Amino acid sequence: MNGMSALTAVVDGKIWVLDRPVWFAGVRLRARSTVVRLDDGSLLLHTPPPPTAALAEELRALGRVRWLLVPNCFHHLSTPAAAAYFPEAQVVGPASALKRNKALSVHMDIQAASFAEQLPEFEALPLLGVPFLDETVLYHRPTQTLLGADVVLCAGAADHWTWRWAARVTGCYERVRVSPDVRKKIPDKTAAARSIHAMLERPAERLIVGHADVIEKDCRDALAEAWRLEGVEL
Ligand SMILES: [Fe+2]
Repeated sequence: MNGMSALTAVVDGKIWVLDRPVWFAGVRLRARSTVVRLDDGSLLLHTPPPPTAALAEELRALGRVRWLLVPNCFHHLSTPAAAAYFPEAQVVGPASALKRNKALSVHMDIQAASFAEQLPEFEALPLLGVPFLDETVLYHRPTQTLLGADVVLCAGAADHWTWRWAARVTGCYERVRVSPDVRKKIPDKTAAARSIHAMLERPAERLIVGHADVIEKDCRDALAEAWRLEGVEL
C-alpha cells in the first residue's frame, strides 16, 4: 500500500528506517521515517509514516510506540493519522507545525526541558537561523546518530528519474547539499553556523535525514561542506 517499504535495520536492535514516495515540486522524492528503540524498549517514530496494519505489525514485534516526533514544520503530514493509530504515544514537535496542520496536536514542544528529561538518550539540537524549516536535529547518544529531516538531502541511484534529473541540475546528485528551496531562506547565517557547529561537535557516526540514503561515510564532513556552500562559515 502507498509504496511504503518494509523496515530496514540501520543499527541492530536500535534503529530502522522505511521509505515511501512523495511528490514535491514536480519531482518524486523518497521520504524517510526512522524508528528508534529506546533503552526502555519503547519506540520513537521520527517523521511518523502513514500507519498501516502491516507496519503496525512490524512495529509491534519491536516494541510499543510511545513517541511520535515531528522534526520541523514540514514533516507532520501523517502524524495525526499515526496519533490516532497509536493513541498511547506522545506527540513531540514544534509549535510552527501546528499552524500548518489543523489536525495536528502536540503534547510536548521539541525544545521543552521535559523532552530532554523524559528521553535523556537524545539531545535536541535546534537549527537556528532557518525559520523556514524550524528544524530540530536529534543526537542519539547510544548509537552516535544524528537524526534530522531537511537539514541536508542527497539524491542517488535509487531515486525516481524526476528527482535524479532535478538533483543533477541543482548539485544534489550523489552529493550532500542543503535543499534548493532552503538555500535562499537562511536569514541568519551566524545562528545557522552556531547550530551546525553544535551538531558537528557530537561524535556522530552516521546522519539520517528525510531524503537521502543513510549517510555513514564522513557524515560530519558532508554536513559541514553542505552548509559551507551556502555561505555558512564553520
Ligand atoms: Fe522534507
